[in-house]
Amino acid sequence: MKITRILLLLCALPLAHAQQPPAFVPNYDEAKVGTYTLPDPLTMNDGSKVLTAQQWRKRRAELLRLFAENVYGRTPTTKPKLRFAEKLRDPNALGGLATRREITIQLTPKSAGPTINLLLYVPNKRAGRVPAFLAMNYGGNHAVHPDPKITLATAWMRENKDNGIVNNRATEKSRGTEARRWPLEMIVQRGYAVATFYYGDLFPDHNNGRPDSIIPHLSKDEDWNAIGAWAWGLSRALDYLEHDKDIDARRVAVMGHSRHGKAALWAGAQDERFAIVISNDSGESGAALARRNFGETVARINTAFPHWFNAKYKTYNDRVAALPIDQHEILALIAPRPLYVASAVEDQWADPRGEFLSAQAASPVYQLLGKDGLNATQMPGMHQPVMSMIGYHIRVGVHDVTKYDWEQFLNFADRHLRQK
Ligand code: GCU
Repeated sequence: MKITRILLLLCALPLAHAQQPPAFVPNYDEAKVGTYTLPDPLTMNDGSKVLTAQQWRKRRAELLRLFAENVYGRTPTTKPKLRFAEKLRDPNALGGLATRREITIQLTPKSAGPTINLLLYVPNKRAGRVPAFLAMNYGGNHAVHPDPKITLATAWMRENKDNGIVNNRATEKSRGTEARRWPLEMIVQRGYAVATFYYGDLFPDHNNGRPDSIIPHLSKDEDWNAIGAWAWGLSRALDYLEHDKDIDARRVAVMGHSRHGKAALWAGAQDERFAIVISNDSGESGAALARRNFGETVARINTAFPHWFNAKYKTYNDRVAALPIDQHEILALIAPRPLYVASAVEDQWADPRGEFLSAQAASPVYQLLGKDGLNATQMPGMHQPVMSMIGYHIRVGVHDVTKYDWEQFLNFADRHLRQK
């Protein structure tokens, strides 16, 4: 090689290196979190104080608008005309405990258009309409239980040969791969129905998923994105549940783990029909405070998942203090309804303390509306659930949904739905 070429190559090397963005190093040191000031959920943008429940309605509308404009994007408000069709019914599911049903929710007037494929388990032992948990799944309906009669999802899925996802499609091998997160028998035995659908029915979860999502079918110019689409889908599933004679739609808890937890919060904030909202390990842009520099950050989530939030959110990457909201206010938007926030101690990426502090900072809104918020002055110890109108627990273990989590959600629902 000629000497000049070698020299040129050597010069180019540091340049190429300089173009790489610096690797993200999360802060896990409480001493380095720094100080921050949270926006007050009970102060309007014009500085006036919210002192009454009536004034809260105005502030609520303002906060919804601020979250739409700055974080999740605007959801179209026109109510779509849906069509429901029951495709399958097995009265003897879960060893006879439940009736398993599959319902297609047609989301547009076109018969070949997008659908939500809802899987529904209704307890066989029931007297009248039952309350329900609604939560999206990650691996398709057939992943929540090994039952070979559940229809195999046909939508796009992330390649994962170990889990039976080949060429981005589910194979028989993928049945039941998510089952340990879904203690269906336990939930049904406690008297609740379970409704679930694959989140990719609304938006395939990758950077280029938007053209294949529900979004182009609904609005051309609104700048919403995957989290908004998933939240919208949860409301459409609730539309169906309202129509179902076995379900008491006034007692539906929307639950979500992780990115689904972010979507469940946004769904519950916008749609006041959800009786209970449950966030499991939702972390950054979910329950955790954005201004607390701990674990994942706004910059990092927008870089790794550019398709989740709207364009404006990315402008806050390096200036979170300029956000007109923080995540305690998405929690406040659930008020006065029961809200449960769950963390896991090894899930430091999601900032458990930031989730707890956020729930605490939402409490004044609950109190204004005559409810207790989070009844805890300090972060509770491991496995010491707080069951006030805002509930909270932290458990041992990693980022996941466990039987322990579900037991607390059931106890919380029993407690808060009983009188309804
Ligand atoms: C990533 C992401 C989180 C998200 C999580 C999940 O870890 O950074 O924000 O909650 O995925 O959805 O599992």
